[in-house]
Amino acid sequence: MGRTFLDAATADLQLRRGGELVSGTARWLSSRMAAASRDRAAALLHPTELAHWQTLTVPRRATSYLLGRIAVKQAIAALGVTQPPASFEVASGVFRHPILSGLHADPPAISLTHCDAGALAVACDPGHVLGVDVEPLDPTRAHVFHSVTSLTERARLRADPNADRTANLLWSLKEALSKALRCGLTTPFEVLECTELQPEGPQRWTCHFTNFSQYRGTAWIAADHVVAVVIPKRTTLGLALDLALTVEPPAVADRSLTVTRSHHEANGTP
Ligand SMILES: CC(C)(COP(=O)(O)OP(=O)(O)OC[C@H]1O[C@@H](n2cnc3c(N)ncnc32)[C@H](O)[C@@H]1OP(=O)(O)O)[C@@H](O)C(=O)NCCC(=O)NCCS
Repeated sequence: MGRTFLDAATADLQLRRGGELVSGTARWLSSRMAAASRDRAAALLHPTELAHWQTLTVPRRATSYLLGRIAVKQAIAALGVTQPPASFEVASGVFRHPILSGLHADPPAISLTHCDAGALAVACDPGHVLGVDVEPLDPTRAHVFHSVTSLTERARLRADPNADRTANLLWSLKEALSKALRCGLTTPFEVLECTELQPEGPQRWTCHFTNFSQYRGTAWIAADHVVAVVIPKRTTLGLALDLALTVEPPAVADRSLTVTRSHHEANGTP
């Protein structure tokens, strides 16, 4: 059996810029936490969020909304925000980007993604910018991933023995960039073109972007998914997120990483 996502995990992004630490965290909540999260929704969601969540009739969206909101709140709690989770809101901006409303302190920069497996939120110092994406590794959608590649990317893929997987990585990196930029995927994919995609380890890749040279993307393969994070190019990302979200069943997790992990965070407390 391959790796699976943990039920919940928090990883310090270990961001550095100009030698200085920049606060940043990632918080993963698996959909296995959905039932426990529903039980605690009233304590964790702001009244406006709770009212909106209760209007969501499509179970998949209700779960992604709930897990996403809780993941953001837990990510910013890990950054040191002590305000009770129900006292502030993860609202949606005009481009549907997530914004924090009702925080007494300067709101951290945040980005959010969800898939059937769960929700991942990243948060960092307000002076920074970041974008995140999680996508299943899905060979049945390979034609879609290939269809939005640029001419330059296609030339690279022709020489790639893992072209479908790489096209999946490129999609996710572009989606993460589109969130950092707040334009979403309404922007033509060619504009978001990736360059210099290269492996940095067995499961980790980095890239740059032709038209957004101030950003750098990092992507991982974890539990049959791609996880992509885009941050400013001159800010470095540490190694703690590598595999921090996953565990090899039934082996016990490697505790040496700078992460807190749990399979049974039954109370979902931030
Ligand atoms: C951004 C986008 C690529 C995300 O795709 P998705 O399939 O929903 O994928 P994910 O689950 O990875 O991400 C969802 C989260 O992205 C965030 N998001 C949505 N739009 C965003 C944007 N423009 N910028 C940054 N983040 C955005 C939200 O937090 C959202 O979660 P939420 O709805 O629970 O708050 C997609 O929504 C998109 O292309 N949006 C374009 C903007 C748009 O069409 N806006 C409509 C009104 S103007």
